[in-house]
Amino acid sequence: MIVRELGRSGIQVSAVGFGAWAIGGPFVSGGKPAGWGEVDDDESVAAVHRALDLGVTFFDTADVYGAGHSERVLRRALAGRRDDVVIATKFGNVFDPATRTVTGRDISPGYIRQACAASLERLGTDRIDLYQLHIGDAPLEQVDDLIATLEALVDDGLIRAYGWSTDDPERAAAFAKGPHCAAVQHELSVLRDAPAMLAVCDTHELASVNRGPLAMGLLSGKYGPSSKLPDDDVRGDSPAWMTLFRDGRPAPEFLAMMEAIRDVLTSGGRTLAQGALGWLLGRSERTVPIPGIRTVAQAEENAGALGHGPLSAAELAQIGELLHRPA
Ligand SMILES: NC(=O)c1ccc[n+]([C@@H]2O[C@H](COP(=O)([O-])OP(=O)(O)OC[C@H]3O[C@@H](n4cnc5c(N)ncnc54)[C@H](OP(=O)(O)O)[C@@H]3O)[C@@H](O)[C@H]2O)c1
Repeated sequence: MIVRELGRSGIQVSAVGFGAWAIGGPFVSGGKPAGWGEVDDDESVAAVHRALDLGVTFFDTADVYGAGHSERVLRRALAGRRDDVVIATKFGNVFDPATRTVTGRDISPGYIRQACAASLERLGTDRIDLYQLHIGDAPLEQVDDLIATLEALVDDGLIRAYGWSTDDPERAAAFAKGPHCAAVQHELSVLRDAPAMLAVCDTHELASVNRGPLAMGLLSGKYGPSSKLPDDDVRGDSPAWMTLFRDGRPAPEFLAMMEAIRDVLTSGGRTLAQGALGWLLGRSERTVPIPGIRTVAQAEENAGALGHGPLSAAELAQIGELLHRPA
């Protein structure tokens, strides 16, 4: 079993985690679906149990996923196993649980305390292991206040460490000055490299928690040019920031990249998804991919990447050449 540390925190996690966005079910943001369509909670709980059986110990959610539902499903699934797992959740979005609608953002000290208490309640736990700022473009000028608030939560024993979910290396570096800042959560997949962010992680000893590690499902290989995602799926009625899918269909340029590297990813008996996760494990010793999982079968396949381990340096170099990336 490959284990990784969350930065300087001393917290150890399985090198492949479990992303719990989809299992939150439907919710709406800016008038568009922000979930992944309807979910079957029993299947979600079974998927978490299968992942646990296969050695996965790191679970990433957010208060806003399903307007609180993802955290509640995790509570049910992790009952009796709390001390075996590491739970990461996020704050910063304000939402109405009754209508399952995102209503705004708030990162004031008072709201963060309130959001933390609400997440602890929904998760059924007395501490959050990694508490992450969910507002990727929050102003840099607020970093000192955010760090002070989060350090106070650490002092109170409510959280163990914190991080920022952002794709901006400058913001990640600024947050890293907080004594208990352990990670940055950012997009990283074999289709979308992030060398500047990985350099910040090395400089500041942060874990690189990878969202979108399967390019929102593209890297499972199950979507082709004629696939159309349903309208109640965030990929179906795609918001402006979505580039992996356009108008509900996989973007052709990313499908072409996937085809170019398919043989390398599937070498050594790996499935495509396992190869994509193996690329991430090989990309840096700090990476912790958190593939989104919604079924038992996906939990099994993704946890299987732990057994195969990282792609080799030669395979990474070959992929870099095939995708015309600088060495
Ligand atoms: N701003 C943020 O902080 C932020 C943003 C995005 C994500 N995240 C976190 O990162 C996690 C992962 O990112 P993501 O969910 O966007 O993308 P992802 O992990 O790249 O893709 C997940 C989706 O791929 C499909 N899938 C997963 N494993 C599969 C398998 N073995 N075979 C076939 N299909 C498979 C599932 O959807 P289908 O079966 O429907 O295709 C699943 O929901 C999220 O769950 C969340 O915890 C955080």
